[in-house]
Amino acid sequence: MRTDTGSKLKFNTTWSYAPAPESQDHVQLNKRYGHFIGGKFVAPSNGKYFKTINPSTGKAIANIAQGDEDDMNKAVRAARQAYKKYWSKISGAERGKYIYRIARMLQERAREFAVIETLDGGKPIRESKSIDIPLAAAHFFYYAGWADKLEYAFPNRKPESLGVAGQIIPWNFPLLMAAWKIAPALAAGNTVVLKPAETTPLTALKLAELIQDAGLPPGVVNIVTGDGKTGAALVNHKGIDKIAFTGSTGVGKLIQKSVAGTGKKVTLELGGKAANIIFEDAPIDQAVEGIINGIYLNQGHVCCAGSRLFVQESVADVVIQKLKDRMETLIVGDPLDKNTDVGAINSKEQLNTIQNYIEIGKNEGAHYYESSCALPTNGGFWCRPSLFTNTSQSSRIVQEEIFGPVLTVQTFRTVDEVIKKANNTHYGLSAGVWTDKGSKIFKLTSQLNAGVIWANTFNEFDPTSPFGGYKESGFGREGGLHGLSDYLKFA
Ligand code: NAI
Ligand code: MG
Repeated sequence: MRTDTGSKLKFNTTWSYAPAPESQDHVQLNKRYGHFIGGKFVAPSNGKYFKTINPSTGKAIANIAQGDEDDMNKAVRAARQAYKKYWSKISGAERGKYIYRIARMLQERAREFAVIETLDGGKPIRESKSIDIPLAAAHFFYYAGWADKLEYAFPNRKPESLGVAGQIIPWNFPLLMAAWKIAPALAAGNTVVLKPAETTPLTALKLAELIQDAGLPPGVVNIVTGDGKTGAALVNHKGIDKIAFTGSTGVGKLIQKSVAGTGKKVTLELGGKAANIIFEDAPIDQAVEGIINGIYLNQGHVCCAGSRLFVQESVADVVIQKLKDRMETLIVGDPLDKNTDVGAINSKEQLNTIQNYIEIGKNEGAHYYESSCALPTNGGFWCRPSLFTNTSQSSRIVQEEIFGPVLTVQTFRTVDEVIKKANNTHYGLSAGVWTDKGSKIFKLTSQLNAGVIWANTFNEFDPTSPFGGYKESGFGREGGLHGLSDYLKFA
């Protein structure tokens, strides 16, 4: 049914909410964390630590070990030993039992993991609780199920494990990205060395504690913390058989150069600049919700964010007005408050990047609009939900990944025009289509160069569904059987 009458949406915005902070009493964090190598927490070789901070206060939460080549040697050695002596020797069914156990324990401790994810990274507790942690557990459950069925998953292909997998993850979905990496690797029979992002190492270290409690054989999962140099030490290590990376396209290119000719298997999940396309026959109110979810989820720190909005000209005024009205209702604030819609920007550096892009957009002549909400004043890094109209294909804000709550808006008239515009990008990770017509959905899903295309929804994830990109968004898939096959070789 068409609901786009053009009338103003009523959200009763005069309501105010009493604070509803999530309790932190049950959370146990240490003041200092070493690396997790060979089943134990060990001090860094060089004795160096750095601080991980809470981006909603700017205050330090814990000291984290700064990994170097020496730590990486130890971790890779532990992973190789565990692979040779144990993990490659036991049956798939046994491996599956361990992975199921991790999944169940993650579910049992979901609340603690959710609070830590929000403290360390700034995302709203509502999202940590309903998206990050349950999806992470779901990935372990899903891949546990394949561990003893690899021969059936890939019939007549004789799947074999690779050995030791090096894995590097970003800060936007810290635990979920750890699960995306670790679960399929273990199910396929590999052992791993994981390097979490420097601003959000805590849930990976909590996962290390959980893995200890789960009785996983020492060395099957190793976690070495640190910055980009630590990541480079993992990429360049001669003892790994595969590198799986999620992060920026710039670092993805560096990694590809360093592993060229080494025989290491590589998968790269890089940036994105997804088109979210609204046709005049779309259910407009639902589409507005999809636009909001597409770009303001997790402060816009989402590689598949719907950051380029394309609205058909005939409904552009209505959609933009409804979008602005809805933006006014978003609450930016304490990430631990259950009413918060948009939390803290992950780091000072990322806030600078976003603010810089906003200036670029203004200087390019685009029209800037931001919601009028109040921002917290007790330190921390904050950014209002915003959008740019009057943008063009060549604008930098339309072409480059901003990775923040900033939407660019363009209009179109015909299906072919919007396909051309949507594909006119270096990226190709995801896209969204909003229309009442199945025929249009089929046309767009077959012609858009994007790894994931959502129809009348956005940012839906499921462990059974492969996720990954085209062009500068990377290659290889995570999730589903595709994700499993990237951790196997075939005889
Ligand atoms: P980044 O790509 O530098 O960081 C991602 C991970 O790679 C971190 O664990 C980091 O320590 C590691 N790393 C950095 N340099 C490395 C190197 N030379 N070798 C191996 N590992 C290395 O991303 P950054 O600087 O935090 O964010 C910059 C921009 O990247 C963001 O504004 C956003 O546009 C994009 N980005 C995209 C992500 C995605 O999911 N596609 C995730 C994070 C950032
Ligand atoms: Mg932090």
